[in-house]
This record gives sequence, C-alpha cells and structure tokens, in this order.
Amino acid sequence: MSTVCDLKIDLVEVCEAAARACAPFVGSGQKDEGDGLAVDAMRERINQVNMKGVVVIGEGAKDEAPALYDDEPVGTGIGVGVDIAVDPIEGTNLFAKDMPGSIVTLAAAPAGSMYRPGSCFYMDKQVYPKAARGKIDPEAPVADRLGALAKALGKDIREIRVFILDKPRHQDLIRDVYACGAKVRLATDGDVNGAIQAVLNMGSDALFGIGGTPEGIVTACAARAMGAEMFGRMAPQKDFEIKLCEEEGIDTKRIITRDELVTSDDVMFIATGLTSGAYVHHVKVGTDADGRYMTTDTVVLSGSVGNIRRVQTTLHV
Ligand code: FBP
Repeated sequence: MSTVCDLKIDLVEVCEAAARACAPFVGSGQKDEGDGLAVDAMRERINQVNMKGVVVIGEGAKDEAPALYDDEPVGTGIGVGVDIAVDPIEGTNLFAKDMPGSIVTLAAAPAGSMYRPGSCFYMDKQVYPKAARGKIDPEAPVADRLGALAKALGKDIREIRVFILDKPRHQDLIRDVYACGAKVRLATDGDVNGAIQAVLNMGSDALFGIGGTPEGIVTACAARAMGAEMFGRMAPQKDFEIKLCEEEGIDTKRIITRDELVTSDDVMFIATGLTSGAYVHHVKVGTDADGRYMTTDTVVLSGSVGNIRRVQTTLHV
C-alpha cells in the first residue's frame, strides 16, 4: 500500500516549482507579486500529483494574501488520501527584502491526520529538539522550561538560544528569557525557520511565541518527523478572529500536543530556500552555455525517526 512519504519526490517538485516561479522577485520589494506566482506554480504542479489531496490549512486568510485555500482539493484524485498544509512563501517580507529565512514550505500526512484550527489564525508555539521530548512541562514558567531544556541538552542555561519573533506581543516573553541568562535570536518574520533551527539543532535550541496557525501545523509535521517536541495553544490576536473563535468554542487555554497537531508517523515536511537560511540555501538564478538556469535547495524531513534528505536541483528554464 502506498504511503504519503512515497510522494516525496513529487511534493519536492511542487516546492521547487513554486521557488523557481517567484525567484525573480526575491529582493524586489514586491511580496504579493512573488506570492501570487508561487501559489499559481504550486497549484499547477500539485494538481499533477497522483493523490487525493486536500489543503487542510493554506496560508493567506490571515493576511488576505494569494493562497491555496482551506479545503481546496489538490492532486489528480487517484491514490492515497493526503492532508496538505502549505505556505507557498513563508516569510513574505523576508522574501521581498531578501533577508534570511524565507522558504517555500509544504507538509503532508494521511487524510484526516492534521489538526483543523477553525478560524484561529494564530497559535502560541513551543518547539524543542528531540533530546527534550517528554522532559518539558509546557505550562511551567519560562525559567523552569529553559532549565529542563538545558538539562536535556547538557548545556548551561547561558548557552541556550531561543528563537522568538520580534513583535510587541512578545516583550514579556523576551524579558523572561533574558532573566534566566539565556539568549534570544530575534527575527521580524519566519517562525517556521526558527522552529526548524530548533528541530535540527541548527542555531536555536527552542522556538517560543505566537505566530501563524498554518506555520504551526507545518512545524508540527517537521517536529514529528524528527522525533522533536512541540506544543501549541490557540491564541487569536485580531478582534474579528477572537470573536469567531469564541463562536466556534475554541479553547484558548488548552495545550495541544504535537501528536494532536498531526496524528500520524507517515508525515513529511519540505522546505525549499528562497533567501539564505540556516538549513537551506538561497534560490539561485544564473546563466551558462546552455542558457538561463535556476538552482533550488530543498530539505525533506520524513517519517518519525529523523530521516533527512537534501535535494539540490538545477534546471534550465
Ligand atoms: P508570511 O509568510 O505570511 O509573511 O508570515 C510570516 C510570519 O512571520 C510567520 O512566520 C509567522 O508565523 C507569522 O508571520 C506571524 O504573523 P504576524 O506577522 O501577523 O504576527
């Protein structure tokens, strides 16, 4: 019987196609133009993949940006049933400014296995590497969580680095981390990037803070694939969102575990670099004797035991 992870190469090509389509707009200052091209290329390629796919969570609703839509059927309709979470450009501001950390990202898992967040666009996230799995109480104060993390990693707390989005809503959180003697890696955007740094032990030891819910589901797939730890909590920020979440009875106090966010081990996370990053390279546009080409760099995390693949593709276009 075929599995979601069997679709790896096809789904890598979906992300590569999106990256190539929007590459000419990296650093152009035009995020919506790039996003639109990435979405169109992704939609065209994903609809050639033999699967019964459904976009469980797309991006765009929060920012009214171009998007693959929630509940949009994707694929040829033949084959394995697949839940898809997708962000054709994660970090659109970083993309437009050619700043580090912008990626094309997509996650896949069997039909019915991804958490459906209703109208909640924001999630409060905690992501830790594999060594900390089962050792952190997500409801404990920051100092206790960082203490447990340091112990699990065999580090002094002063060596712990937490990735946090540099937003006014995180002022207290940042202060609490500094108060423990730990370090903070701040970025204006791109919390998937921060989470993957923690999951892969590449630059950050944890991700804390409130970011997008689609990014949260994508992150949960990466965490599960790498055996890492994650907790989420619905955290609506905008007035209309708070109202909708109340109407839908969304519990904003409940901690949602990694395995609730994605319930299967047949899970896959894909990221293709648009700008430079800790774990994927910048998309490259060049010319050689055969004409114009583009090179994409992609990382694939799949299964549940830490399988990592790197795919570097050069295509003349
Ligand atoms: P975009 O890809 O939509 O630009 O999202 C970037 C991002 O920084 C995410 O990484 C993060 O989850 C979310 O925005 C946070 O949202 P906001 O900027 O509204 O606080």
